[in-house]
Amino acid sequence: MKLWGGRFETGPSEVFERFGNSLHFDKRLIDADVRGSQAFARSLARAGVLTDAECASIVDAFESIRSDAADPKFFEGATDEDVHTFVIRKLGDRVGALAGKIHTGRSRNEQVSLDTRLWLRDECDRARGLVTALMSALLDLAAKYPNAVIPGYTHLRRAQPVLWPHYLLAYFEMFSRDYERFSDARRRTDVMPLGSGALAGSGFPHDREAIARDLGFAEITRNSMDVSADRDFALDYLYAASVTMIHLSRLAEDWILYSSEEFGWMELGDGVTSGSSLMPQKKNPDSLELIRGKSGRVLGALNSLFFTMKGLPLTYNRDMQEDKEPLFHAADQVCNSLEMAVVVTETVVLHEAVPFTAADESWVVATDLAEALARNGTAFHSAHQIVGRLVLESVRNGKKPGEWSAESLAAFAPEFTPDIARLLDPREGMKTREIKGGTGPNTVAAALADAKRRLAEMA
Ligand code: ARG
Repeated sequence: MKLWGGRFETGPSEVFERFGNSLHFDKRLIDADVRGSQAFARSLARAGVLTDAECASIVDAFESIRSDAADPKFFEGATDEDVHTFVIRKLGDRVGALAGKIHTGRSRNEQVSLDTRLWLRDECDRARGLVTALMSALLDLAAKYPNAVIPGYTHLRRAQPVLWPHYLLAYFEMFSRDYERFSDARRRTDVMPLGSGALAGSGFPHDREAIARDLGFAEITRNSMDVSADRDFALDYLYAASVTMIHLSRLAEDWILYSSEEFGWMELGDGVTSGSSLMPQKKNPDSLELIRGKSGRVLGALNSLFFTMKGLPLTYNRDMQEDKEPLFHAADQVCNSLEMAVVVTETVVLHEAVPFTAADESWVVATDLAEALARNGTAFHSAHQIVGRLVLESVRNGKKPGEWSAESLAAFAPEFTPDIARLLDPREGMKTREIKGGTGPNTVAAALADAKRRLAEMA
């Protein structure tokens, strides 16, 4: 069955059908297609195109299609052009010629927009739920080691000591922005397009606000040509998914490093690591590597739709059918990756002493020392020079910060007053960073409490 054909003398070639048919992937939209079609039938009844009895039998028939569609066998052998055609054929099987009325003044161009929006709205919620689950797991991991000190890095070189919870809260912030981005994508998706026709607006008096209410949309679209041409809402989702994957892959990379023998800070659970078929000693961080690897596919999906949409003349073009596979694919990858990241986070064991020693034995306290000199009145540039010389001398002699004393520091440079020696301990300098957003212990405790409160508001 086709939804067109009168104007053609022959049917489509077998190659074209194989090339162009989309049922094998857009069947994923069947639930949305049926719900949208039920709402459209009710609107046709309100507009006087269907009697109440016709509407009721169409809506019932759609309901049976909806439940039958739960069984994958329902699609077996189907050769329909797309999910919309498939659903109308199934409707015809149930209500006969009456099925021919459902497309009164409706185009697949608006229908595909509606279906994708209905489906994507739920996907935004699914992603938001998983993002908040990960944020919660990060807070739990922070709470397990509230006082752990790690070296923070720039250029992958030890930079300054920070609290472990402060490090995890950095990711909490990234994922809280991802949550906002998914919310934003949801808001732009939550707009009802039906009544737009193919591109010029429907020729039948639909109450579009009523359809929106029926399907739970926040508002209706404002321009029928825009509806046929627009896939911004899908791009918004793909952008949100891409940034989320970038954050996930950076977290993955950090923990692949931190759990390596070279760092030795943390242990990942047996349940999220795998062994080698040859090397018996191996415990590989495959779950994190796969998260990092899958990020490429989601970024690829965003780019794929960018390139599909670029330069398309208004309004609908069949090119736009190419939106769905990347979109479906990205939605699955980002949700699977978030789910995986939650489980990995729950298994992390931090060997607190190792990163602490890494901080204690390196010169991550150098900035604390220079700032202390500056607080005592030495110009920061000179303070920087003095501490730089102290580090150089120490590195030459293999001397760790803890091997200096108040006396030896004062002998090195008179600017080092006795109280400054305290700052050779990386835990001490952090106490000078009780500034909003900083790693001061009280500030971090307050930030954790605040994060918990914000998370409760999101979930
Ligand atoms: N399968 C099509 C898509 O996904 C539905 C719209 C078809 N419209 C058309 N004029 N051929 O874009």
